[in-house]
Amino acid sequence: MIPHFQPPARTLLGPGPSDVAPSVSRALAAPTLGHLDPRLFACMDELRGALRDVFGTQNPATFLISGTGTAGMEAVLANLIEPGEVVLVPVHGYFGARVAEIAGRCGAEVVRVDGEWGRASDVAKARAALGAKKPALVAVVHAETSTGVRQELAPWRDLAREHGALFVADTVTSLGCIPVDADANGLDGAWSCTQKGLSCASGMSPVTFSPRAVERVRSRQRKVQSFYLDLGLLLDYWDGAHAYHHTISSNLLYGVHEALRLVHEEGLAKRFERTALVSKAACAGFEALGLKLLVPQGERLPELLAVSIPEGIDDARIRTRLLRDFDIEIGGGLGVFKGKLWRVGLMGHGATRRNVLTLLAALRACLETEGYKASGDGVAAAEAVFGAR
Ligand SMILES: Cc1ncc(COP(=O)(O)O)c(C=O)c1O
Repeated sequence: MIPHFQPPARTLLGPGPSDVAPSVSRALAAPTLGHLDPRLFACMDELRGALRDVFGTQNPATFLISGTGTAGMEAVLANLIEPGEVVLVPVHGYFGARVAEIAGRCGAEVVRVDGEWGRASDVAKARAALGAKKPALVAVVHAETSTGVRQELAPWRDLAREHGALFVADTVTSLGCIPVDADANGLDGAWSCTQKGLSCASGMSPVTFSPRAVERVRSRQRKVQSFYLDLGLLLDYWDGAHAYHHTISSNLLYGVHEALRLVHEEGLAKRFERTALVSKAACAGFEALGLKLLVPQGERLPELLAVSIPEGIDDARIRTRLLRDFDIEIGGGLGVFKGKLWRVGLMGHGATRRNVLTLLAALRACLETEGYKASGDGVAAAEAVFGAR
């Protein structure tokens, strides 16, 4: 016998997952349906419509992959890349590197253009790196979670169009937090996750493919190497015929359905506004404490703030204390920023005034036990932003 597992009630303010809204938790626990039940298909149809709105697209091929964000990344890349094709990937963080890695595993000749971590990538540099090569695909990370950088999509779309290439983006940390505007930004494909801006449990990856991208997949020379992620087979399940492909989790679908219902109830524009305001208050609070933000304001994601760890402060000790004494989770740095950054997520259901003020007070308490002298009152600075509204 093993005892019941009772997880503690944390406040999740890291790079993801974010806190799950109570109604989403209840939806996840509703009675399981079979993956071929007509009632489940009705839920899936509603969910697809709502997902199109959040992505900002009319693409009929908008649905969910069973698997986390990385599964969506693999699905888009495995379907759209044929071995030997040139794929351009600007890399200015950990997840850009993952895109390049997976594109390479799909057999692409990857033109990887490395930029500074903490800044957006430079299109002119990528254009120069391509030289005479003609990419079939350009793949960018819209919201680089390792550094909190927002990458503008339009300049990369234009570069892709110059070459007649498809244009795809990782929207794992942007969907539901900032506009993706997939159609306006000319995206032929995008993947995301359920555990960040949508504030559901992890385990599914929303994806969208433009009609042009679906056509490209249908006219492939070779079959998609992955059976599980084959777009044609997945659409045979999601669309009219509903042919069995895999045993999708109905419970996760209910959770995503409820999460999207909440997004619609609030309104997308309002959600983006709330995220921006909460983030502005958090930035004011961090700066008042004397903490520095890594990313310049113009390239900074509101939903993921990278805060430099002050000299002499031990990353692990602070994060352990935050978790142990305050039940607050924030993230540490990845790659070159390991031990040097904290990553604070203000996503979806978790982007609240209460969370910002609690974190600022708790972080100050933890820092001061380590001998750090705050230069000002973080809570008051954040309150001033909320109050000034
Ligand atoms: C930008 C980005 N892409 C991809 C992923 C991978 O997603 P997952 O961990 O859900 O597989 C993450 C995860 O944090 C991410 O932030």
